Amino acid sequence: MTDAVSKRSVAFSAAQPTGHLTIGNLFGAINNWIPLQEHHDTLFCVVDLHALTVRQDPQELRKNTLELAAIYMAAGIDPEKSIVFIQSQVPQHSQLAWILSTFAQLGELERMTQFKDKSLRHRGNVNAGLFTYPVLMAADILLYKTNIVPVGEDQKQHLELTRDIAIRFNNIHGPVFTIPEPAIQSHGAARVRDLQNPEKKMSKSAESDLAKVMMLDDANTVLKKFKKAVTDSLGEIRFDETNQAGVTNLLSIWCAATGSNRETALAHFSHNQYGKLKVETAEAVNAVLEPIRQKYQMIMNDPTKLERILTHGAQQASAMAAIIMTQIHDVLGLPPLPGAYNRG
Ligand code: TRP
Repeated sequence: MTDAVSKRSVAFSAAQPTGHLTIGNLFGAINNWIPLQEHHDTLFCVVDLHALTVRQDPQELRKNTLELAAIYMAAGIDPEKSIVFIQSQVPQHSQLAWILSTFAQLGELERMTQFKDKSLRHRGNVNAGLFTYPVLMAADILLYKTNIVPVGEDQKQHLELTRDIAIRFNNIHGPVFTIPEPAIQSHGAARVRDLQNPEKKMSKSAESDLAKVMMLDDANTVLKKFKKAVTDSLGEIRFDETNQAGVTNLLSIWCAATGSNRETALAHFSHNQYGKLKVETAEAVNAVLEPIRQKYQMIMNDPTKLERILTHGAQQASAMAAIIMTQIHDVLGLPPLPGAYNRG
């Protein structure tokens, strides 16, 4: 069990509650979180404050936030082993974000590719939060003296900024922060591609429904999407990202879903047609998703229990965060935190 005096190394990760997760998020991120629970103190957060950087419908946001927490647990995050919580229920995230914003330089934030992309996509709302998004992410990570952060390749730049901020702070004020190491999944199954446009990574924000397989899609929908996946006219089943991105993607997804390596996949499919590859990949994915779908339904059928778990998670996280906030106040010359926030 995770507690404040434990000496195990700490792993932290998070996702935004903006729409449901795809099998890309499952194979590329969440599946890598599960085994960490055995040998690390693990925290998995739903970052609803980050979601506010893009305009949200309040009801949708509330719903998506709970559903994402339920998806974590349905996929195998065990609240007995990990702290599962919602970012906005732990006020220290915002408190530390403010402090860290005074250690982040405008120039560094301007270089973030996610900021550049998002400010182009949301031209009408380039708010300051979109700009300081990585500072809040740094706060998420640094609050818990996190050692490792399992994330996708697209978050690498944010993680490097987190390290730079922590090192800068420590150089001025002493060794308060642990410098986190990224655990980037950057190969194979981590890179599930868009089924309609396999040049791109599969994204939950893709416009076409056929482009992405959601973790909660039913079995028929999954089958339909794979059947319509874009391939090529070469008629050979090979790993060749350059000339056969679609076929390579299906093979990698099959490998991820069955836990097989490339050789096994090639031996299994070498004499088959694309149709068979598509159907078998869909079946393999359904075999992974079916228990997740069932568990998800169970969790969602008991909202009181879900809320209880999340409240408990927030309390545990907040108690851990209080320790470092006390230290930070001390080294910065801020007065001690009174009462409820000073449980450290
Ligand atoms: N920015 C991450 C994403 O879009 C989500 C995130 C927020 C995160 N805070 C984090 C990931 C801390 C890892 C650690 O995927």
